[in-house]
Amino acid sequence: MIVNLGGLRLNNPVTVASGTFGYGREYEDYVDISKIGGIIVKGTTLEARPGNPPQRIFETPAGMLNAIGLENPGIDVFLNEFLPELVERNVTVIANIAGNIVEEYAEVTRRIEKHKGIAAIELNISCPNVKQGGLQFGTDPKAVKDVVKAVKSETSIPVIPKLSPNVTDIVEIAKAAEAGGADALSMINTLMGMAVDINTRKPVLGNIFGGLSGPAIKPVALRMIYQVYKEVDLPILGGGGIMNVNDALEFIMVGSSAISIGTGNFVNPQIAEDIITGLRDYLEANSITSIEDIVGVAVQR
Ligand SMILES: Cc1cc2nc3c(=O)[nH]c(=O)nc-3n(C[C@H](O)[C@H](O)[C@H](O)COP(=O)(O)O)c2cc1C
Repeated sequence: MIVNLGGLRLNNPVTVASGTFGYGREYEDYVDISKIGGIIVKGTTLEARPGNPPQRIFETPAGMLNAIGLENPGIDVFLNEFLPELVERNVTVIANIAGNIVEEYAEVTRRIEKHKGIAAIELNISCPNVKQGGLQFGTDPKAVKDVVKAVKSETSIPVIPKLSPNVTDIVEIAKAAEAGGADALSMINTLMGMAVDINTRKPVLGNIFGGLSGPAIKPVALRMIYQVYKEVDLPILGGGGIMNVNDALEFIMVGSSAISIGTGNFVNPQIAEDIITGLRDYLEANSITSIEDIVGVAVQR
């Protein structure tokens, strides 16, 4: 079930989403992490970040809200302390990077480029672009193009911007990423949401707003991937609410060459392995030789 995602070679199409699988260490007792197609590690920034004040997680009907705020030890700690362990275990590592300004993304990329062992870079562009007055990169086509271009110019490994669904026209954003030189697209990140505690009469999350993930966002993700697959000629890493193999197949049929599992890991730590087995069974039962044969079959072009 080998997959080529814009130059990124995965042994199978199943990856685990950034921020939901730590650095792989946390899941080692439950699953053989080298069997997963790729591990997208926790989002990393240039400097260490403490993250947002608590409460940072809240369960919702059919999903969860999180406002972790990119807590991470910084790129150098990741590269020197966590990465070697993953490389030793033969894991395909995809770094997920974030920054406040374009130059931070470029600097993190320069440091990654000096190390061996990272197969691709996923760009989290759902961050405030301080120089443009607090707008998120991911909601501004020009900013998307600029950040992708800046990162591409610093590295030879595939660059995969992760699109935010908090926009009116996802195709416009995908086209901007393509214009910047993206090798593939990852979609979707979380949808902005909130919850209120009726006893304290205050928002539940310390950050007030958080990102909604899980089954609740699956229909939105499928719709956006369908739209982008139809109009943009880049491979897609699809995800958002995948909880079983049937969900994964839906994502593939609307145009995902590979898929990512996020919230599902919290419910079933072995979900990635289960879905890999389920995909193999589906292909066999339907006499399909390659996943590629069903990518986008549900899309009218
Ligand atoms: C607790 C938590 C932390 C996350 N951290 C990151 C992150 O650091 N970078 C990122 O790009 N996405 C992050 N995400 C978003 C996920 O990678 C994924 O795109 C999203 O949850 C949708 O997929 P799902 O519905 O399968 O969870 C996080 C999600 C959760 C639930």
